[in-house]
Amino acid sequence: MKKLKEILSKTLSPEEISYIYGSYDIVGDIAIIRVTENSKKYSQRIAETIMRVHKNVKTVLAQTSPVLGDFRLRKLEHLAGEKKTVTVHKESGCLFTVDVEKCYFSPRLFYERKRIAELVKNKETIVNMFAGVGCFSIVIAKNSNVNKIYSIDLNPTAVQYMQENIRINRVYGKVVALEGDAKEIVQKSLCAIADRVLMPLPEKALEYLPYALIALKNSGGWIHYYAFEHATKEENPIEKGKAKVAERLETLNTNFEIQFGRVVRATGPNWYQIVLDISVKK
Ligand SMILES: C[S@@+](CC[C@H](N)C(=O)[O-])C[C@H]1O[C@@H](n2cnc3c(N)ncnc32)[C@H](O)[C@@H]1O
Repeated sequence: MKKLKEILSKTLSPEEISYIYGSYDIVGDIAIIRVTENSKKYSQRIAETIMRVHKNVKTVLAQTSPVLGDFRLRKLEHLAGEKKTVTVHKESGCLFTVDVEKCYFSPRLFYERKRIAELVKNKETIVNMFAGVGCFSIVIAKNSNVNKIYSIDLNPTAVQYMQENIRINRVYGKVVALEGDAKEIVQKSLCAIADRVLMPLPEKALEYLPYALIALKNSGGWIHYYAFEHATKEENPIEKGKAKVAERLETLNTNFEIQFGRVVRATGPNWYQIVLDISVKK
């Protein structure tokens, strides 16, 4: 995707360009930009330039708040094009219908979703504790020979879109959408059934780790653990994340090995989203 500062170099002055965020997301035919206090006054020009450069973009929205609350939602304002927040995004041979205002969705996790799908073995049962509109689950279902992926989300609107996405991707029976708190659903209905557990909610992963262990089969399995870590230049965010997880798992008397870790993306100055692949032997 073209860099925002690059495509605006003919429209804005170098000073104006210095005030804008360099990155933006395209979800289906909706572009989402971030606007600073200083760049607010020419956000309209930014939006129109994006629509001119990306012919497939029909709507440009401005993100006016950080991602907030249990449902991980952001406030959005219409800038240009059709007034809508629902779109269909294509990724790894799958289609995701999503309302970007009422559900969490990030196209930036596409590599991570593909990476996990490639790790899945024949006939596995998976629990996705924080499934959103079903992206991880559907990419896995379409790209592996999985048995079932129980896919939980607390946000009723996200679960509705997940059901629609299960239908349009024809993974009915493989991906099972469940609405509610992952903690409660796992304890009530998903004890000791999973070969693999996905935890793509960095804010709650440490708190929900005991429930990921409950979901795993008695023979053990894998946990894909996502977290946010602060790290200075001298520090390694993966090592910091590993130390926190190890401490927690040791207090839970778990036999584990953290076999892999990577930075998924930088989320701010000295802040990183990381993933750890944890092998658990119960
Ligand atoms: C960061 S999003 C990840 C969504 C999805 N996995 C993706 O990659 O697009 C986290 C999701 O967890 C859901 N959530 C928050 N708390 C939850 C809980 N206690 N149990 C189940 N889902 C929860 C939110 O509604 C949100 O959709």
